[in-house]
Amino acid sequence: MIIKLPSPNFKSNISLEETIKKRRSIRKFKPYKISLEEISQLLWAAYGVSDEKSGFRTVPSAGATYPLEVYYLTEEGVFHYLPYNHSAESVIQKDVRNLIVEASLGQRFIMEAAIDILLCAVYERTTLCYGERGYRYVYMEVGHSAQNISLQAISLGLDSVCIGAFYDEKLREILLLPIDVHPLYIVAIGKRS
Ligand SMILES: Cc1cc2nc3c(=O)[nH]c(=O)nc-3n(C[C@H](O)[C@H](O)[C@H](O)COP(=O)(O)O)c2cc1C
Repeated sequence: MIIKLPSPNFKSNISLEETIKKRRSIRKFKPYKISLEEISQLLWAAYGVSDEKSGFRTVPSAGATYPLEVYYLTEEGVFHYLPYNHSAESVIQKDVRNLIVEASLGQRFIMEAAIDILLCAVYERTTLCYGERGYRYVYMEVGHSAQNISLQAISLGLDSVCIGAFYDEKLREILLLPIDVHPLYIVAIGKRS
């Protein structure tokens, strides 16, 4: 099933400087049902298309090779972001976040967050162009994406925490990730309690 996401918004009531100032890793979230508009906005900031003509994204990418694949998890299941038509494909139709908590050394806020965005990479897209150096470029790019998500969250009145501590292979098994898709970073987002 493909979910068409609402168009992103390009205006907000908070300055970029304020979002930078306010960003803090928050690990206590209260129950909050995230809207499709908020999901759309976060995914667009993460890796959406910001120039329709060129297909270039909200994040810089070495040689425009775009190695990242973006997934998100909510109580409804697991979804894969399709940037070119700003939509999401349903991948798993049940809540698997308790398993992700287990695979992430018991970081419970992954389940308490309203949404978790998982940033993965297909290294070959970049290493085919740049060889070994491509790995460093991919790691830089995932940081750009996570930062965009963190600041976009603040602009939406939400908070976040970036998570790098998890067992890659466990995550791959739970999320049925294709063999060339490597999980790198989770950003948990929600309303702080
Ligand atoms: C690469 C990376 C991995 C991180 N992994 C985790 C993590 O697994 N769990 C967690 O709670 N915080 C994680 N953090 C968040 C840091 O603990 C946090 O950014 C740091 O304590 C500074 O606090 P601040 O983000 O509020 O400024 C990670 C941060 C980075 C940059």
